[in-house]
Amino acid sequence: MTDASQARARLALAADLPLEEGLRLYQQVAPHVAYAKVGLSLFVEHGPAAVVAFLKLGAKVFLDLKLHDIPNTVELAAARAGALGASLLTVHAAGGEAMLKAAVKGAREGARSKGHEAPKVLAVTVLTSMSAEDVASVGLSGAPEEAALRLAKLAVRAGVDGLVCSPREAEAFRRELGPTPFLCTPGIRPAGSAKGDQSRAETPAFAVRAGADLLVVGRPIHTAAEPLAAARAIADEVSTA
Ligand code: C5P
Repeated sequence: MTDASQARARLALAADLPLEEGLRLYQQVAPHVAYAKVGLSLFVEHGPAAVVAFLKLGAKVFLDLKLHDIPNTVELAAARAGALGASLLTVHAAGGEAMLKAAVKGAREGARSKGHEAPKVLAVTVLTSMSAEDVASVGLSGAPEEAALRLAKLAVRAGVDGLVCSPREAEAFRRELGPTPFLCTPGIRPAGSAKGDQSRAETPAFAVRAGADLLVVGRPIHTAAEPLAAARAIADEVSTA
């Protein structure tokens, strides 16, 4: 693989836009971005059609549904995601070991039923929107980063393929969990770009050096005057980090 195709395989466009706009934008940046992230709003509005539309453009689909329910229900939902051809699927680590195992089982079986490669199941630990008070108020002990690492270890023990974490958490997760878990980091801001509501954003190079495998980028591409150039600059930074 060339540097450029390696960088492409490590970038996801967060398609938090109306579907037609998201599809247009993905087509523009596709030379530098392998994944399209379909989140809750697109999925609630369009359902599987949103996934199919990005797959038709040649995107790998990151289905960010953050599943959290009883194991049987999560297994069924993960199986549908696998059958759709998603490459990545998110679940909440706080759902516990049985739920996480059910997600992995469902995703694999669903993919196999349609001849797809199984999606990687990624666990979300503590939402980065939660303050220390929020974490304590839902009954998690310790500082948010301690709770996040505890949940990450639980999720890896349960057999998930990877974790979603902030670029700042990635370093600790990599150190504590070793080279195997696939680490995916949102909260990416190239130097000089607007932070928006991301209070703990880091640059693409920071995330790569911290051990991230996949970088999720939304507004730095959505709001760029030239999205293709913005995506190319991020990909270059990933290649040279
Ligand atoms: O626009 P921006 O680059 O901030 O988009 C980041 C994407 O990653 C959004 O889809 C957002 O929902 C998601 N995300 C995040 N922070 C987290 C988890 C997910 O920004 N902690």
